Amino acid sequence: MRRSGLLVYEILQKLGGMVQEGMTTWDLELVAVKMMEDAGAKPAFKNYYVPAAGERYRFVLCTSVNDEIVHGMPNPKRVLKNGDIVSIDTGVSLAGYFGDSALTVGVGELSEQAKKLLKVTEESLELAIDKVRDGNRLFDICGTVQEYVEGNGFSIVKEYVGHGIGTQLHEEPQVPNYVDRRNENPRLREGMVLAIEPMVNAGRPEAKVLKDKWTAVAKDGSYSAHFEHCVAVTANGPWVLTRP
Ligand code: MF3
Ligand code: CO
Repeated sequence: MRRSGLLVYEILQKLGGMVQEGMTTWDLELVAVKMMEDAGAKPAFKNYYVPAAGERYRFVLCTSVNDEIVHGMPNPKRVLKNGDIVSIDTGVSLAGYFGDSALTVGVGELSEQAKKLLKVTEESLELAIDKVRDGNRLFDICGTVQEYVEGNGFSIVKEYVGHGIGTQLHEEPQVPNYVDRRNENPRLREGMVLAIEPMVNAGRPEAKVLKDKWTAVAKDGSYSAHFEHCVAVTANGPWVLTRP
């Protein structure tokens, strides 16, 4: 998992650094495909069956622009422009073990609100990572994200959640970015790995899925940000597998 985590990191660093006005989200897909091939890795998303969509996903990346929350599809017609934000989400498997990570980057000059949205979403993930400790509970993670995001005036997307990860992309438990007392609240134990992925809207929390069956957007059209890391519970505290 460390190897797949570091590969995902290298890919996201490369793609994040490429993002500029005038390019398309398809340009990002092509580079990611090549990097996975060169590393002998399997894309985790391509051909992955998602019950809610009722079909398999067709790309190695999700590229979600502006009001798109998650599962935006790389598209040669989607030209990035000044002031856009783009979430790049990808996963791979190496020798049967998965890694999954996402970041959101700005194109050119961002509005003050967009800058704050990226900062708060990323910080909420960092605060949650620090809760990934043996003996803590799942709700420590969920509550940390929720409190920080809502305390800064933004909204948590409820329809999409993080997840356990290992020999499958999605394993138990689900990792929501909010606390719901009806959900299970297992204790975290050494050896568990969680993919924590806050999805945060600048406006209202509600999401809807477009007619393409995949792209989830903020209902009110507000900007949405997404950051994700895979984090292992170790005897020495949190180990973020998806960065050096
Ligand atoms: N990081 C997201 C997740 O863990 C992206 C999955 S895209 C999919 O759910 F196509 F694989 F579903
Ligand atoms: Co994920």
